[in-house]
Amino acid sequence: MAESDYAGLIVDIPDYPEPGVIFKDITPLMADPKGFAAAIDDLADHFKDAGITKVVGAEARGFLVGAPVAYRLGAGFVPARKPGKLPRDVYSQSYSLEYGTDELQIHKDALSADDKVLIIDDLVATGGTAVATAKLVEQAGAEVMGFGFILELCYLDPRKEIGAAYDQDVFTLIKVK
Ligand code: PRP
Ligand code: MG
Repeated sequence: MAESDYAGLIVDIPDYPEPGVIFKDITPLMADPKGFAAAIDDLADHFKDAGITKVVGAEARGFLVGAPVAYRLGAGFVPARKPGKLPRDVYSQSYSLEYGTDELQIHKDALSADDKVLIIDDLVATGGTAVATAKLVEQAGAEVMGFGFILELCYLDPRKEIGAAYDQDVFTLIKVK
């Protein structure tokens, strides 16, 4: 699907959740059968020859995109969850958000040294969530193969943040200048 078609399915919400922030609402894209299928297929197709064995998606919106991409790639899905949600031993990583700070965790046995991992989320803004998720993958001893997002907020320069730590492929469907 063309970038302009995707962009027509994203709704801008000014001053949400705080004044000065333009919230990008992806729920109309998720609710559109053709748009949702195209977004999942386009993300999966880009990484289809990368040997991905696991997709890791960050709670909550990363689950919506990451799980179907994993299914499409024939890979497993591993949730990176907010603190206290996973019942067994976890690795933890704190990170800065576009607004505030948070922490993500994965089960210690969710990934192994031979896993090749794709990190998927709905949106990359500062890149903090993506880098924290990648660090969890590394804590687990697995290999980060790439990053995929529906939306990239280019004006926050997330490629600088990700690129400072990782030279892997960063692929996005919609670039917001
Ligand atoms: C949003 C979005 C990404 C993250 C991107 O998640 O879903 O995960 O922000 O921002 P960053 O690149 O600056 O880290 P949020 O933490 O708002 O929570 P949600 O997914 O639970 O809605
Ligand atoms: Mg999120």
